[in-house]
Amino acid sequence: MLKNKTIVLGITGGIAAYKAVDLASKLTQAGARVEVVMTEAATNFVTPLTLRNITHRQVVTDMFESNSEWSEEHIALAEAAAAVIIAPATANTIARLATGIADNMLGTVVLATKSPVIIAPAMNDVMYANTVTQKNIAKLKSRGFTFIEPEHGRLASGKMGKGRLPDTATIIKAIEKALGQKQDLTGKRIVVTAGGTREPIDPVRHIGNRSSGKMGYALAEAARDRGAKVTLVSANVTLEEPSGIEIIKVKTAAEMKRSVSGAVKKADALIMAAAVADYQPEAMAKAKIKKGKQDMTLKLVKTPDILGEVKGKFLRVGFAAESENIISNAKKKLTEKKLDLIVANDITKSDSGFDADTNRVVIIDKKGKAEKLPLLSKREAAERILDMVKGLIN
Ligand code: CTP
Repeated sequence: MLKNKTIVLGITGGIAAYKAVDLASKLTQAGARVEVVMTEAATNFVTPLTLRNITHRQVVTDMFESNSEWSEEHIALAEAAAAVIIAPATANTIARLATGIADNMLGTVVLATKSPVIIAPAMNDVMYANTVTQKNIAKLKSRGFTFIEPEHGRLASGKMGKGRLPDTATIIKAIEKALGQKQDLTGKRIVVTAGGTREPIDPVRHIGNRSSGKMGYALAEAARDRGAKVTLVSANVTLEEPSGIEIIKVKTAAEMKRSVSGAVKKADALIMAAAVADYQPEAMAKAKIKKGKQDMTLKLVKTPDILGEVKGKFLRVGFAAESENIISNAKKKLTEKKLDLIVANDITKSDSGFDADTNRVVIIDKKGKAEKLPLLSKREAAERILDMVKGLIN
């Protein structure tokens, strides 16, 4: 898989930079054309000469004044790269990439490439765990970057902690995975809904639910990475906005219905991962409702059933958040809403459903065939759902 592929290897200034020498060597042995880009700090840990001898290619560093020739070169590198791997990546480099700073060769190559970027952080455990670093990582993940988690072990400080660069084999596996990214949804248009609707009672209060939007966002990002053109109708989430996806923000079920109706016109599939309120207050009070002496009754009326009412020739995928009789309740919804697929999840477990990063789902098709998936990350569950969607779209 690596044979004749151009792999840009970014090396930044951390003690683990010496391990990048082994990575460069193994990638070269596997037949890849390894283009090394070192930050100036990295050259304090390993020499460009070592890497040049291993890769048999020029090594790009920031040690020379940049001129037009260089700038053409790194744009060419960015275009030629089948993948960019940064190993080790310091907290500083991750922060620069997260803000799009391109004042060195590596930053420019990353900004200019359309290929997968894989980042292997290695640093002191406290720096890694710092919320700033974690926020930067989350931001880059939402832009489609792949991260290889650092390992727990002895760090340069002598302390034990999470921050070690994983071994070469693990990094190569991640590169191969990125190179093998399926592009099986290229040209398909997919509309995904995410989050939970809020139905206003008055200007300050609403009826809402606990949906975080993570499952819907994972689906949208996975579909984007597989080549689909994605519209994400997003209700009340606090997640980082992914790039390369059209995002329509809505608040209420009625707004969601309007946006979905517009978005599905040319769509191949609608995946309704959002938790839509079934009822809304009959009317929203214009002013804040004041506390009275008596109890109060709120009259609720039904919201539109989006999946049931939006018409068109696209594939319909629903979600069923259930707390009991999961399969039979989900099957009932599948039939009633005339769906092609329904994804049922058990919301009573802490590792699946609302706000969890993992999910335990059962995917049921029109014929009633149920595929029970193990506990997976929401991204992995999304990939499995899309595998089914892909089979049905064609
Ligand atoms: N859904 C919808 N419009 C609504 C309510 C739900 O399109 N007004 C969609 C959800 O996005 C989900 C599926 O229908 O994909 C099932 O949602 P769920 O709330 O589990 O089912 P309901 O039909 O609302 O049934 P209940 O709340 O009674 O379980």
